[in-house]
Amino acid sequence: DTISSMADISSPPQPMNLTQDELKRIAAYKAVEFVQSGMVLGLGTGSTAKHAVDRIGELLRQGKLENIIGIPTSKKTQEQALSLGIPLSDLDSHPVIDLSIDGADEVDPDLNLVKGRGGSLLREKMIEGASKKFVVIVDESKMVKHIGGSKLALPVEIVPFCWRFTAEKLRSLLEGYGCEANLRLGEKGKPFVTDNGNYIVDLNVENDMGDLGLVSDAILRLAGVVEHGMFLDMASTVIIAGDFGVNIKTK
Ligand code: 5RP
Repeated sequence: DTISSMADISSPPQPMNLTQDELKRIAAYKAVEFVQSGMVLGLGTGSTAKHAVDRIGELLRQGKLENIIGIPTSKKTQEQALSLGIPLSDLDSHPVIDLSIDGADEVDPDLNLVKGRGGSLLREKMIEGASKKFVVIVDESKMVKHIGGSKLALPVEIVPFCWRFTAEKLRSLLEGYGCEANLRLGEKGKPFVTDNGNYIVDLNVENDMGDLGLVSDAILRLAGVVEHGMFLDMASTVIIAGDFGVNIKTK
């Protein structure tokens, strides 16, 4: 006992000074440890999920994984997975997914998420919602006390038809929380278009939105809204990579 406590004092944990991308890779590789041969896998989108897809491709190539079927959450992930030789399918053919792995923009203490800053929230929500297990991979900068009030945006996918009308409806719905609604722009200042041909309105909400379930329902009731980026009660596990190591939170 004395020896081990002396060892603890003489070598306190040292920060590893890793870059944010290295932390994302560490979280992604940890999540891929949950993958087993024969699984149908939801493949996420974004710079963190990209590491997981790379790793799955690598393990398949090395013969350490077999008979994987990937369900990509975006055209970009589809291209990446195809280039790695990962066999792909879709929700029509595989309505039940064993495991999905994806990043997030924000994670609150109840493991509610904000996703969609990469613009793939609709397919992500469909696929991750159909998953028996949904593992979220983040670096520690994504952890927040509560969704809203972080100065970061809640993305909402809307139909292009009269988008100003829908954006204004969204803004006035959340006006009480200090909300600004901005159409997301893409290349050359043109509206960003999702894989589904829709637009995204980013809602900058200044204050804690309280009951997120009520806010979610109210947003989804607006005609013109397709889906929003709050993923409530969907994550089964969150893997957080930080400078002092990996923390795994499970529901
Ligand atoms: C895309 C997403 C991404 O998972 C989210 O934006 C996190 O991205 P990154 O891993 O690049 O930080 O929801 O729609």
